[in-house]
Amino acid sequence: MKTAINYAEVPHQLQCGDSVFPRVIVNDGSVTNLSECERWINDNIDVLEGALKSSGAILFRGFPVNSAETFDTFSNAFAYPNFTYKESLSNAVRINFTERVFTANEAPKEVEIYLHHEMAQTPISPSKIFFFCKSAANEGGATPLCRSDMLFAELLKRAPEVAQEFASKGLKYTTHMPAEDDLRSGQGRSWMSTLSVESKEQAEHKLAELKYSWKWMPDGSLKATTPVLPAVVDLGNGVKVFYNQLIAAYMGWKGVKENPASAITFGDGSHIPVAALELVTSIAEQFTFDLPWQDGDVALVDNYMAMHGRKPYSGERKREVLVALAMN
Ligand SMILES: [Fe+2]
Repeated sequence: MKTAINYAEVPHQLQCGDSVFPRVIVNDGSVTNLSECERWINDNIDVLEGALKSSGAILFRGFPVNSAETFDTFSNAFAYPNFTYKESLSNAVRINFTERVFTANEAPKEVEIYLHHEMAQTPISPSKIFFFCKSAANEGGATPLCRSDMLFAELLKRAPEVAQEFASKGLKYTTHMPAEDDLRSGQGRSWMSTLSVESKEQAEHKLAELKYSWKWMPDGSLKATTPVLPAVVDLGNGVKVFYNQLIAAYMGWKGVKENPASAITFGDGSHIPVAALELVTSIAEQFTFDLPWQDGDVALVDNYMAMHGRKPYSGERKREVLVALAMN
């Protein structure tokens, strides 16, 4: 027998056009173990995917997920091809638990990770993100989620020329990869680990293949600039999303607020006006829902439709949010 989907409401959910953001689904008690959970996902996959497509994010609450392994099974039940951290060019330091599951970001609790589309500052990014809250913080630690289509529509309304400039020129990102992993930073992954290489020669080969330009620094770190990447992506169904890492880079990367052009420029190398960066950052707030984690929550986020981040947190309790990425 097919078990129904039990939609629920949580405070501060956003109404975005016709859809609710995020969708919240609560186990009504009929899914009692992991294999029933897998079956429930299989039985309802079309409806779940429809909800994800229209909303951009689904929060699953009260399902039998309580460890990296059970989260692996839950996320695997959607049958999306895996996108591993190892293969990615993510610059966050993370720890792997299973082939698919790793920590969200090892940055210290007082550090805020600002809104971004996962790995949109690299040529290879995942299409879906599963988050699992193994252990919520005592205070804070929400995952802000922002509807990127709404953000771009509002930008088009408020500053059409700026919106068009982003869409037509695209962006280039310059990142600084340390010689060793730096756990104190949100972008502290070493160049060897980021590029999955063991020597400078291999690093250069990989960067050339990906069409980056680069410079070795005297301290052994590496400065690399991407080829032109999109700032806006057309999802093909009439929806355009502000698909990039501008807010995270401007607000959170070291030294970028003082000198944005050190890390982000338009695709032709011209400077992005600070007023434009401030405007998109403030518009984003309007379309952001702070996901208040409870132990055992799983969120599935469409990486094209929604940006995510991490609020600072405090208290004795270790905040453990794990991630699995998918590409389909
Ligand atoms: Fe992220």
